[in-house]
Amino acid sequence: MIYTTKDRSLDLQALPVLPPANTVLMARPTYFDVEYVINPHMEGQIGNVDQSLAMNQWQAMHDTLVSLGVQVEVLDGVEGLPDMVFCANQSLPFLNQDGEPHAVMSQMHSHHRTEEVSHIAQWHEARGVATVALPQDGDFEGMGDALWHPGRRLLWGGHGYRTDLTMYEAISSLVEAPVVALELVDPSFYHLDTCFCLLNETTVMIYPEAFTEDGRELIHSVFEQVLEIGHEDAMDRFALNAFCPNGRDVLIQKGSVDTISALHNAGFVTHEFDTSEFIKSGGSVFCMKLQTWA
Ligand code: ARG
Repeated sequence: MIYTTKDRSLDLQALPVLPPANTVLMARPTYFDVEYVINPHMEGQIGNVDQSLAMNQWQAMHDTLVSLGVQVEVLDGVEGLPDMVFCANQSLPFLNQDGEPHAVMSQMHSHHRTEEVSHIAQWHEARGVATVALPQDGDFEGMGDALWHPGRRLLWGGHGYRTDLTMYEAISSLVEAPVVALELVDPSFYHLDTCFCLLNETTVMIYPEAFTEDGRELIHSVFEQVLEIGHEDAMDRFALNAFCPNGRDVLIQKGSVDTISALHNAGFVTHEFDTSEFIKSGGSVFCMKLQTWA
């Protein structure tokens, strides 16, 4: 079932509990670069990536996740697939109602990224996770746009740039959970994970202008606490592409001063990193990893 921005009747407490994901995948940025332009952040950045800096930035994020007790698995990058480091995008892991781990495989909007999907599918399958194909043509970019509500069987689904709204009916039946569809209206915030950051069951951070008025109202109707973040942190520092693995610690681009103080006021602990090289490609912390259950 799909909730759209017209519905205000979503009762979180009535939804089944979703156990927390127990594993995080990261893809090594050996072949990371900006080689084409498929989002506004990549404009003017072709050839501008400092690869050894990128590797150090990736390693720092990896080591922090490990130090927080997160089980991190690493997949090698593949030559010719410079965006594979953004391993949130090629699939949507889920647990079925019987608690068995699966992954819906993405159908990338850009042909430049299509080949990444089979590498991520092989990784899932090698770990005994069944992969599922979508039953129809159209775009779907995995956990770039489709985000699990912490602790509940509810999916938040962004659409408009990289994912087609028409895909969510099929996704909802495959993952056996309702989807709240949120339309994205600013091309700089082309994935839901660039403007909507789930922190715990009752708290979300958003960049309000990336949504419609209806979308904003719907978000406010579900969450007790909505931290609204300003344009500079959202746009220049990808502050909404932060990652909270445990409801307490938040990994975030360094220098996101306003966002970090909002997080501290709300009781979160922040861990700052520089992801400057990845921001040149239109991504930061959240999309450099995939959370899964196996
Ligand atoms: N260059 C990549 C693209 O445009 C960046 C993806 C970042 N991923 C994300 N979920 N925000 O597809």
